[in-house]
Amino acid sequence: MTGLENIWTEKYRPKKLEDVIGQNHVVSSLRSFVSTRSLPHCLFTGPAGCGKTTTALCIANEFFHDQWKSNFLELNASDERGIETVRVKVKDFARTMPIGGLFKIVYLDEADALTKDAQHALRRTMELYSNTCRFILACNYSGKIIPPIQSRTAIFRFSSLKEEDIVNYLEYIAKAEKLNIEKGVLQLIFKFSNGDLRKAINILQTASTSGRITSDVILSVTSKMEPVLVQKMLSSSLSGNFSEARKQLLSLLYEKGIAGEDIIRDIHSQIFSLDLKDSQRLSIIEKTGECEFRLTEGSNPQIQLE
Ligand SMILES: Nc1ncnc2c1ncn2[C@@H]1O[C@H](COP(=O)(O)OP(=O)(O)O)[C@@H](O)[C@H]1O
Ligand SMILES: [Mg+2]
Repeated sequence: MTGLENIWTEKYRPKKLEDVIGQNHVVSSLRSFVSTRSLPHCLFTGPAGCGKTTTALCIANEFFHDQWKSNFLELNASDERGIETVRVKVKDFARTMPIGGLFKIVYLDEADALTKDAQHALRRTMELYSNTCRFILACNYSGKIIPPIQSRTAIFRFSSLKEEDIVNYLEYIAKAEKLNIEKGVLQLIFKFSNGDLRKAINILQTASTSGRITSDVILSVTSKMEPVLVQKMLSSSLSGNFSEARKQLLSLLYEKGIAGEDIIRDIHSQIFSLDLKDSQRLSIIEKTGECEFRLTEGSNPQIQLE
């Protein structure tokens, strides 16, 4: 027992490509690779919680069945201390022959966290081990991956999940867990999830500890979540209370550890629910665009967001 089976995002994670939802074009071309028993190096791009890791695990399952664990290495570029540890781990993994297949799979999450130099080193590692390994790199934006890697990978663009997909998925979990849910609650969870199914499932699981799940329960679970905190920060700022807004910003960045890019995305997604004139909205959109660009170029998030 690992305890992982109690976490719904693991318990209900699809094991087969056919059960991955909402990414039809990605899944159908991957399925044709599975049927020919071949796989190119891949680049999975898309927002959080839309099925990138899940799809990679499904591929490993379909290629290797019971043996998938010895043929699949999952690394996270921002956890590993630099490209050197990635290189050593890949070298170790690639040293033994694949069991029951022609190659092994290395899944490298958050590949866009690597610097350009580190990405060049990664490209050399990919080439060095391409006899025994296929690499699947995952990132939010393909634009942050150096062109020599982009041109050596098949790019699969994952989209954020639609309301219908998320609501249906939550309904399926609710049925399996025999939850007692008020009408409209799953749609409310979708609103807080921003199309991130991991977030949606986590809200549902947290709310499930309180008997009947009502919209009040969801609001109390989510009031501690990032989009709501960002909303509070925005209203402090719009009402002219700069020092309060700044305090809320610092708490988001340093107490909650939320990335500047996630905060700016939340701000952007809330511009149209704020009570503002169109000209004011336009000017906030302009500012968020500029700020987002600077953050992706590596600027300091506190300075940009303040
Ligand atoms: N397209 C999808 N189909 C089915 N389940 C999904 C999908 N996307 C996300 N999930 C669910 O959300 C959780 C997180 O998904 P994951 O694949 O880890 O997202 P990411 O794109 O961030 O790698 C999974 O455990 C799974 O339960
Ligand atoms: Mg992932």
